[in-house]
Amino acid sequence: LKVAVLFGGQSGEHEVSRVSATSIINNIDREKYEVYMVGITKRGQWYLYSGDVDKIATGEWEKEAVPALIGPSTMYKGIIAFKDKSYEFYPIDVVFPVLHGPNGEDGTVQGLMELLEMPYVGPNVLSSSLCMDKVFSKRIFLESGIPTPKFTVVYRKNLNDVDKHEKIRSEISEKIGYPCFVKPANMGSSVGISKVHNEGELIDALKIAAKYDRKIIVEEGIDAREIECSVLGNDNPEASVAGEIVPAHEFYDYDAKYFDEASKLFIPAPIPDAKMEEIRELAIKAYTALDVRGMARVDFLMDKNTGKVYLNELNTIPGFTQISMYPKLWEASGKPYSELIDELIQLALS
Ligand code: DAL
Ligand code: MG
Repeated sequence: LKVAVLFGGQSGEHEVSRVSATSIINNIDREKYEVYMVGITKRGQWYLYSGDVDKIATGEWEKEAVPALIGPSTMYKGIIAFKDKSYEFYPIDVVFPVLHGPNGEDGTVQGLMELLEMPYVGPNVLSSSLCMDKVFSKRIFLESGIPTPKFTVVYRKNLNDVDKHEKIRSEISEKIGYPCFVKPANMGSSVGISKVHNEGELIDALKIAAKYDRKIIVEEGIDAREIECSVLGNDNPEASVAGEIVPAHEFYDYDAKYFDEASKLFIPAPIPDAKMEEIRELAIKAYTALDVRGMARVDFLMDKNTGKVYLNELNTIPGFTQISMYPKLWEASGKPYSELIDELIQLALS
């Protein structure tokens, strides 16, 4: 089978995507799958790359790639690569979008694949965009009876008006309190997220988040352990064992995720068996409520004082780097990396 692995993308998580894609390309079963590497630059240009896999993570791939697009031809669907003044066509059976964040994990690329009738790994348009949008996904958690930290929404337009700052501050104090987390509604890898300890820090944190989204979510800051569970499947999803992240920083921010070796993963999470079961069941419940197919990493917060479990979010194209939770949790649950990739591709085709 011919698989196009999409990497990069127009998102604040462009670099992470290149690292995720590298490990997927390195772990895919080459006897079964022929891999085509399709990179999307930060500016949104699509290229076909056929060089050394190591150059994807460093960014050097861009120099050796040829402009390309995934599209229809009269008879086939596949990659159209432009060379000099002519083009070459490579038929493709399935696309694996290894794109994190907006313009890739949020239903946009999925929509393009739908138009082409091209099978792709991961959930459909609606489910992808719901999971990407922290506000809409929380509304569905609540509607499904799944606990989630209290939240409210602030719009960028109100932030631009200094006269409205006082009203924003008092609304957050009343509804949410401190500490709280300020996040762009549509983003991943903790890009643009701040932990806010008091009213004085609020507006600056909102401005940082507003760089990434016109809609900002403010959530209550629960003193919690971070527990994650991997889910895989279409109509009959399965949950892995859950794992725990102990971040090197005050929370699992971008640097703690990818650069700081001091963050620790515990697999399985050192929690009582009953909590483990509760979390795995909630993970499936959330997955089903948001109509996910393919995969998602479901992220929870477990209150350090009460043990209460809250759903934080679902990531429909979770990190796939060598240190990422999604594949590691499956490995610990008896599914090696290349088997996981194989299953994901088969789920896309079924
Ligand atoms: N958004 C990052 C890639 C993750 O969830 O792992
Ligand atoms: Mg996320």
